[in-house]
Amino acid sequence: MPKRYHVTTFGCQMNAHDSERIQGMLESLGYAAAASRAQADLILFNTCSIREAADSRFVAHLGEAKRLKREDPERVIGVGGCWAQSVKEEVFARFPFVDVAFGPGQVHKLAEFLTAESLTAQGFFEFEGFTGHLPAKRAREHQGWVQISVGCNSVCSYCIVPSTRGREVSRPPAELVAEVADLAADGVREVTLLGQNVNSYGRDLPRDRRITFAQLLAEIDAVPGVRRIRYTSPHPKDMREDVIRAHAQLPALCEHIHLPLQSGSSAVLRRMRRTYSRERYLDRVALIREHVPDCALTTDIIVGFPGETEADFEQTLEVAEAVGYDGAFTFIYSPRRGTEAATLADQVPHERKVARMERLVEVVQRRARERAQRFVGRTLEVLVEGPSRTDPTRLRGRSRHNRVVNFDGLAAPGELIDVRITAATSQTLTGEASLLASAGA
Ligand code: SAH
Ligand code: SF4
Ligand code: F3S
Repeated sequence: MPKRYHVTTFGCQMNAHDSERIQGMLESLGYAAAASRAQADLILFNTCSIREAADSRFVAHLGEAKRLKREDPERVIGVGGCWAQSVKEEVFARFPFVDVAFGPGQVHKLAEFLTAESLTAQGFFEFEGFTGHLPAKRAREHQGWVQISVGCNSVCSYCIVPSTRGREVSRPPAELVAEVADLAADGVREVTLLGQNVNSYGRDLPRDRRITFAQLLAEIDAVPGVRRIRYTSPHPKDMREDVIRAHAQLPALCEHIHLPLQSGSSAVLRRMRRTYSRERYLDRVALIREHVPDCALTTDIIVGFPGETEADFEQTLEVAEAVGYDGAFTFIYSPRRGTEAATLADQVPHERKVARMERLVEVVQRRARERAQRFVGRTLEVLVEGPSRTDPTRLRGRSRHNRVVNFDGLAAPGELIDVRITAATSQTLTGEASLLASAGA
């Protein structure tokens, strides 16, 4: 019987990517996936620490692992990811039943630990490797993550990520192009390039191997078989015209940009150390709309940053109203250990944060619903993912704008088909496959 593993993943796409690599590495060691924690010899958590809620969600899951470890002390419990990195060796003092802990920079050490003679508790917290170098077990056959860089050199005053992922290091372009070619040969149609700040890609590379993010996009677009390219996240400070133009020029690069706003008030942005102003951000949006008029725009917004006044918050509402995002992730500010903003006076009371959040969500959803109506009556290319989650007699896929499309038709996962859109909500589109539409007509 092979040993069996179970991985629970919290957090962002980079963690989803890292977990696919963890699973690929474990399978190359001869482990097999277990259907539940109770059936696993190795129980892993790939953690996130971006907000307090992320910490508590993970700690709630740990209870079951503790109980299972008590039942069978041979079981190995491992904790990786950003939360582990942020507390380091403290993991073992707080949770004595944990056997191994590792940060995002030393995932590969897990293999060393598991194959060692004795399993005494160990922690690995150096920043030394790319998880992208490990074998992957992809969750979705036709979609692949590509880690183009790790770490972040920004110093956003609210953010824990620079301390959990280290300084920014880019992978060489030739390696990335080869990885994308392998993915395409393996049936992947859509790649998503990942980094904390993708458009600062390459600045740390030696001069003779250095290319810009826009050049990297062009090289990946040229890989045969790749039909869609996405990336996340760009930083507005580094969003240059060449990247925006690439969306109009490169056939595979999708009409969607996730451009984190964080706040619509220049004063708050300054205290956040975002290094752009409201005007500069709106100027980027105007440039996008000029070159790629139909581009979907999504964003991240934080409400209740320390010192945020009613007037500051209204400026955020104004930007959300003016831009008309296709969607937005909205967050209540959460003080994080070791960050500058957590030490600021005038923290905003919780009830006020919640009230502002509700007002923001109203604007975001209304504008997203309005924006989505532009798709009704159009025929969009959809990458088929499988059966619809709400109605298994229908299919589900995504448009190039990153909209979920539920539709009637016959198609296999991984196919790109034309779907005529008949209805739209703020979240999803409804339609019918064109062939079906013309057959019925
Ligand atoms: N590197 C990416 C993602 C950062 S984390 C980027 O810079 O875009 C994803 C989002 O979480 C951020 O964009 C921000 O909106 C939110 N976030 C980060 N720290 C936070 C905190 N302390 N409280 C609330 N939201 C936070
Ligand atoms: Fe955090 Fe800012 Fe870096 Fe994004 S750019 S990971 S928000 S420090
Ligand atoms: Fe969370 Fe780390 Fe991602 S803190 S959001 S898993 S970079």
